[in-house]
Amino acid sequence: MKILILNGPNLNLLGKREPAIYGNLTFDQFFESLKKKYADVELYYYQSNIEGEIINKLHEVGFSFDGVILNAGAYTHTSIAIGDAIKGIETPVIEVHISNVYAREEFRHVSYIAPNAKGIIAGFGMQSYELALESFI
Ligand code: DQA
Repeated sequence: MKILILNGPNLNLLGKREPAIYGNLTFDQFFESLKKKYADVELYYYQSNIEGEIINKLHEVGFSFDGVILNAGAYTHTSIAIGDAIKGIETPVIEVHISNVYAREEFRHVSYIAPNAKGIIAGFGMQSYELALESFI
């Protein structure tokens, strides 16, 4: 099974960025432990701060991978283009968030990903990614 974890803007700063909200773990640390735990899954990781690169990556994997776990960061709340990209591919996408976006500012309650996603997981810290992976398995 081929699964891509796709992280959007500012998520390269995990571990340093607003630790009270996003925790102290870097994504690389978390990803290493995930790969060990799910050794049977072909797990890939890509992060970009650039909207078009996220779209390109969705196009690249979207007809061959079994699933995409997407944390589009703030683009979740703004990007019609990423929403359209998800609509245009065949691979199912699960929207994830580390924080509970619905317990935060109102602008975070809007998602252009959700209407096109298989499901949404938010608010479980880094475990949100793992729960999404479990659901694909
Ligand atoms: C986030 C929530 C978004 O609102 C925010 O812009 C992020 C991270 C999360 O994982 O909780 O960058 O997607």
